[in-house]
Amino acid sequence: MGLLLLLLLLSVFTASSGEDAFIGVNIGTDLSDMPSPTQVVALLKAQNIRHIRLFDADRAMLLALANSGIRVTVSVPNDQLLGIGQSNATAANWVTRNVLAHVPATNITGIAVGSEVLTTLSNAAPILVSAMKFIQSALVAANIDSQIKVSTPHASSIILDSFPPSQAFFNRTWDPVMVPLLKFLQSTGSYLMLNVYPYYDYMQSNNVIPLDYALFRPLPPNKEAVDSNTLLHYTNVFDAIVDAAYFAMSYLNFTNIPIVVTETGWPSKGDSSEPDATVDNANTYNSNLIKHVLNNTGTPKHPGIAVSTYIYELYNEDLRPGSVSEKNWGLFYASGVPIYILHLTGSGTVLANDTTNKTYCVARDAADPKMLQAALDWACGPGKVDCSPLLQGQPCYEPDNVIKTHLMLLIHIITRWLWLMGPVTSMELLPSLPQTQVMVRVGFREVVVEEMAPL
Ligand SMILES: *[C@@H]1O[C@H](CO)[C@@H](O)[C@H](O)[C@H]1NC(C)=O
Ligand SMILES: *[C@@H]1O[C@H](CO)[C@@H](O)[C@H](O)[C@H]1NC(C)=O
Ligand SMILES: *[C@@H]1O[C@H](CO)[C@@H](O)[C@H](O)[C@H]1NC(C)=O
Ligand SMILES: *[C@@H]1O[C@H](CO)[C@@H](O)[C@H](O)[C@H]1NC(C)=O
Ligand SMILES: *[C@@H]1O[C@H](CO)[C@@H](O)[C@H](O)[C@H]1NC(C)=O
Ligand SMILES: *[C@@H]1O[C@H](CO)[C@@H](O)[C@H](O)[C@H]1NC(C)=O
Ligand SMILES: *[C@@H]1O[C@H](CO)[C@@H](O)[C@H](O)[C@H]1NC(C)=O
Repeated sequence: MGLLLLLLLLSVFTASSGEDAFIGVNIGTDLSDMPSPTQVVALLKAQNIRHIRLFDADRAMLLALANSGIRVTVSVPNDQLLGIGQSNATAANWVTRNVLAHVPATNITGIAVGSEVLTTLSNAAPILVSAMKFIQSALVAANIDSQIKVSTPHASSIILDSFPPSQAFFNRTWDPVMVPLLKFLQSTGSYLMLNVYPYYDYMQSNNVIPLDYALFRPLPPNKEAVDSNTLLHYTNVFDAIVDAAYFAMSYLNFTNIPIVVTETGWPSKGDSSEPDATVDNANTYNSNLIKHVLNNTGTPKHPGIAVSTYIYELYNEDLRPGSVSEKNWGLFYASGVPIYILHLTGSGTVLANDTTNKTYCVARDAADPKMLQAALDWACGPGKVDCSPLLQGQPCYEPDNVIKTHLMLLIHIITRWLWLMGPVTSMELLPSLPQTQVMVRVGFREVVVEEMAPL
């Protein structure tokens, strides 16, 4: 009997423990100079960002992501939730238009149904699980439910008494939603989506939470938080919140649902009432977060269990309403220039490099393949151009798309010419331009480069 119980406990979580955690990035679009989808994808590739979450299912963005290998979580925006939760047919249409139209070329791996619905749109709470079930049944009907997981991101504020984590529980008001929701996640092999904002917990704690504890900085052992029930030691707020969510689920008897952190981050700028929204703190938080997640450290309750995490967010969003910090959660300016260079030496390749002065490998399938081949032959031969960036393992290598690769070579050549003028942030071969011209964006200026020698 004792042995049986032990085996049962050990088998919990084996399903997810073999996987490595990943770092993804959220892409908000409230920018006055939002880069084009091709430019966004170029930045993602240059930064080796392989997982993203969109706050909608924008068609142009999903088309630009095709064949990029990037894994995409799309979202049902809150303003479409009521319709989908009330009608199976509306849900099926949504899936047809926003998912089936793009897979498999675009690797959609998750659907976030609404955003923080319980805390921001409580009138939709009663239909939230129906919406998820309707979306799921459309995926089942299309036989793509094994690749695409359906869930819904929660604000961590639905967890009450979150310290010590072992005493945490979900706000009981929402038990009639949370119980069927967790049953759904369990039966479909999905995961709990959780938004984790140590910045706000720190801000609201009136100095009870030390800044170092929020920023994953080392604490002296006597400052570490200890859960007196479990004797687990907590060295950072992030882990404590994720464990509080595990405990809140187990309080409702759900013990095998993994967690994916759909949003976390730190603002790099704030107004006078937000003195800890600084470039240094944002860099420290995100750098330490990335190292922590990619190390597969897990949490004190579930060491070694992957907690994949999406950073909020790719770009600063200058059009977002609210305080100064609201507009400054991004890792990059719209130009693609990083706001700060993360300290990530030795921790993998995601977001590991400054791309300020680098070539973006962007191209459109616009030109005649024969002309491109001729251009390539000329450039790498008599043209004496360094073709090494196109070799396997190099930044512009794309095994699946020879034509695109050729276009990238041309772009690379031009980039080298233009480096003298300033940081080249993107380039496109536009179908509307003659094939001998390339549109280039240098910093904020647009330049048309004409009369490429071989053509
Ligand atoms: C899509 O993403 C899934 C999950 O990461 C992966 O297993 C699969 O190989 C990807 N498919 C393609 C075509 O890249
Ligand atoms: C909802 O639609 C799906 C197809 O999208 C279908 O398989 C399922 O049976 C429908 N469910 C209900 C309750 O009508
Ligand atoms: C629990 O949720 C309800 C409904 O949103 C809210 O009114 C209440 O304040 C929450 N309880 C706590 C302790 O936050
Ligand atoms: C969880 O399971 C225990 C033991 O089977 C049971 O006593 C308890 O009522 C369950 N709790 C919930 C919320 O279902
Ligand atoms: C990475 O994990 C190892 C073992 O799990 C641990 O000893 C080490 O401190 C971790 N490093 C970081 C940066 O978290
Ligand atoms: C980042 O830059 C360093 C130093 O230039 C280099 O060694 C490393 O390979 C680069 N990583 C990526 C992912 O390009
Ligand atoms: C980019 O290139 C310019 C001009 O060569 C140089 O002044 C600048 O320091 C470079 N920026 C970075 C981040 O390397």
